[in-house]
Amino acid sequence: MNDRVLVVDDDPGIRDTISQLIEELGYGCDCASDGIEALSCLNTSSYLCVFTDIMMPKMTGLELIKRIKAKDISLPIIVITGYASLEIAIDAMKCGASDFLSKPFKVSQIQLLLGKMRREKLLLEENRKYSDAIQLYRLIDNLKGQLEDKNNEITSLQTISEKIISLKGIRDLVAAIVDVSKQLLEDVDVEFYPLNRKTQTLIDTKRGHHRIISTDLMEGRIMRLSGHLTTGERTFQTIFPLMIEGQVFGTLDIHSDTVLGEEKEGKILYLLNRSAERMENVALYEGLYENMLSTLKSMAKILDARDPHTSQHSTRVTNFSLAIADVLELPQDEKDVLYIAASLHDIGKVGIPDSILLKPDKLTDEEFTTIKRHPDIGADILKQLPPMARETEIIRFHHEHYDGKGYPLGIGGREIPLLSRIITLADSYDAMTSDRPYRKGLAINKAIEEIRRCTGTQFDPELATLFINKIIGP
Ligand SMILES: [Fe+2]
Repeated sequence: MNDRVLVVDDDPGIRDTISQLIEELGYGCDCASDGIEALSCLNTSSYLCVFTDIMMPKMTGLELIKRIKAKDISLPIIVITGYASLEIAIDAMKCGASDFLSKPFKVSQIQLLLGKMRREKLLLEENRKYSDAIQLYRLIDNLKGQLEDKNNEITSLQTISEKIISLKGIRDLVAAIVDVSKQLLEDVDVEFYPLNRKTQTLIDTKRGHHRIISTDLMEGRIMRLSGHLTTGERTFQTIFPLMIEGQVFGTLDIHSDTVLGEEKEGKILYLLNRSAERMENVALYEGLYENMLSTLKSMAKILDARDPHTSQHSTRVTNFSLAIADVLELPQDEKDVLYIAASLHDIGKVGIPDSILLKPDKLTDEEFTTIKRHPDIGADILKQLPPMARETEIIRFHHEHYDGKGYPLGIGGREIPLLSRIITLADSYDAMTSDRPYRKGLAINKAIEEIRRCTGTQFDPELATLFINKIIGP
């Protein structure tokens, strides 16, 4: 059966246009004219996603988003918006909306959004299926039952869960699996070998060699081996595959003096299953993060489009900033941060009214004070995304001056992050050379003169010299 989409808008014209485009793409579509009607549709049918307007009678779109999210956090909601209501789009995203659809509505834009939603839905379903397949929940219940009598062990599952949930990167997670296994089993040797998918070999980083993986492990089964040490004592090896999304990610090898037994194996399985869930969540989260990022980038583009005189400004600032980073030979991860921060440096202008942002005449002092809030507004928007902590600070300081006379904080010199100093230079140069309603853009040689004049006051002297000599001049 085709995926269905729910469109909520009080304007019948908009409802018809969007639902027609959705149906043309082969999806089913229901329409509701307000939040109450939408909630009753959601009670009777299931949907791939919901498109909703914000300004509606009876219930606002924001209220509707909150109500939907309270019922089903995983149902994606797309906000229908004109460019003039970007501030509302941001509020909607804070309430849990995943994306927005802006006017004029194009079939390609809707296709892209629905494709993305469908991929996310499949990913979520895959995860659920996988969890069922390994009967994770039954295992947890079993384990809980077994542990109830044993006071000293009663908290161990909780410890595992807490430890696993608090970890972020995959490498942290692998180290924790080894640690927790040792704590759980005592008197065992534990090692984790990641699988190289290309060569289908397990990588032994300590000894620097690769081992072929057995079919049993590849198919998700535990391997149990036994042998004798040179001293004649018996030794046992139990190898658990760590499966992520149905594929082997690596193996956990446990050497012990006695057979592990069902109970101990159960604990290790529980640990590996929780870790696998966490790893899948990390992957899913990264996917959602990418989505959020692309939404922010399209907002930056729309922002540029709001003012015809500054269109393409963000793109040019990004290109100049990356050119400076190239000359400075900054490492790739710094360039990645710079790319995002430069692309979104003026995102805070969504919080500045058109009457000020698009004013053709010179700004009054009061208006200028309002404009000066945009670095903080931008940083506050990005603060919602924890992995963007660095970009957040760089954006906050992109109007600071080297002599400490900039805004918002008035910090100076090297106290201003290097990447912010780079963006300041690129941003100012582009502003100088672009046409404005009240003046023509400066010629390159005049802009160079201006940069020289402001070197040491507004700009970092080293960066300014490098920019003039290696990028735009002489
Ligand atoms: Fe700015």
